Amino acid sequence: MERRDFLGIAGGAASALLVAGPATAAAGKKRAGFLWGTAGAAYQVEGANVASDLWVMEHIPIPIFTDKSGDACDVYHRFDEDIALAASLGFNTHRFGIEWSRIEPERGQISEAGLAYYRRVLESCERRKMKAVVTLSHFTVPRWVAASGGFTDPANVEAFAAHCARIVKSMGEKIHLAITFNEPNLATVVRWSGLSEKYRPYIEAAQKAAGIAQNAPNWSSPMLAGERQYDGIVAAHTKAAEAMRAAGASFPIGLSLAIPADTAAGGDDRGLKRKQGEMLDRWLAAPGDFIGIQTYTGGEVGPDADVPPPPGAEVTQMGYAFTPGAIEGAIRLVASRTGRPLYVTENGVATEDDTRRIAYIEGAVAGVERCLADGIDLRGYIHWSLLDNWEWVAGYRPRFGLVAVEPKTFRRIPKPSARFLGKIAKRGGLA
Ligand code: BGC
Repeated sequence: MERRDFLGIAGGAASALLVAGPATAAAGKKRAGFLWGTAGAAYQVEGANVASDLWVMEHIPIPIFTDKSGDACDVYHRFDEDIALAASLGFNTHRFGIEWSRIEPERGQISEAGLAYYRRVLESCERRKMKAVVTLSHFTVPRWVAASGGFTDPANVEAFAAHCARIVKSMGEKIHLAITFNEPNLATVVRWSGLSEKYRPYIEAAQKAAGIAQNAPNWSSPMLAGERQYDGIVAAHTKAAEAMRAAGASFPIGLSLAIPADTAAGGDDRGLKRKQGEMLDRWLAAPGDFIGIQTYTGGEVGPDADVPPPPGAEVTQMGYAFTPGAIEGAIRLVASRTGRPLYVTENGVATEDDTRRIAYIEGAVAGVERCLADGIDLRGYIHWSLLDNWEWVAGYRPRFGLVAVEPKTFRRIPKPSARFLGKIAKRGGLA
């Protein structure tokens, strides 16, 4: 599978063109309570999530993943060190995922040790005065959920809501913000990129192979199911939010969305409008206290599909155009469509060249500050990612981390970009 894989398409297209003019003085001011943090997903960093559906998908004889996730960054054992490092760099927020399959490895079988583990992660955040942003579903589900059809099975929708309520009862008082589903709209963004069509036969064969391996003819990994599970995911999000409130959750609950801030190719914006509607409408109509914005890049949209980056354009390790300005366009796009508070819950760049990451961060934060200066209700900037980690089908090659991870020893090595963004976080903005 190509490096410019289906996951890597998430992101926006405001492009550097949207970054015009200096940030206003007001933009540099520290905002009380503004979240400055980094993000990771359980499956990408913890290692050995053997009860997850993706572990099954990784171990069928169809090579859709470049590398096996294996031990990942061993965050399962090293979370405390990582949270301490992030705090020492200057961040006040830590976004991490709770892997449902560690808590409910078989339907109805609850692991007290699994719950205790994530409580310890939250306690570590508390000790370091780090606000905890928790993702309840970041592309993975327990294998028994995939085995019965993912979120097309109403029993799994109920099970997710019950799981989320269980988290609240067990550790809710330590959570600052919760994202039910990470980028549930990603399949739409990928369809516009043209990659869903290209990879459909492989993905379908892989889902079938997993079903055979698991003796589960209805097997469907939600992450790889395209747009087919959308209705079930909206239902699961809605029921989970209700169940969490009923269980006493007092923190905001919302969705994070993949949001390209594209521009129209050739001045005809019909394709662009259609794409934006398909990508946003259903999710903005779902209940929630905020919207999480996740943006990586941007480009032009033609009548029916995205237009690839022009020849000679700087591209990242994911094959995306290098567009630090994309996040500003994405924030403005969403602000024009909802009055809900906004958070940047992911933004980053895959590059071996850390000086380009610094340039990307500088451009992105300048855009964030312009949005704040214009009065947009944006409450945080969370960078993807703290660590170089397992980038789904693209494996370990793309480097999104502010901190490198030495293979085998798992030693953490902060890059200059970690100090750069950490200083911004400490100051509460650019100089
Ligand atoms: C996902 C992350 C992923 C990142 C970079 C987002 O789509 O939420 O899991 O690693 O993009 O591709």
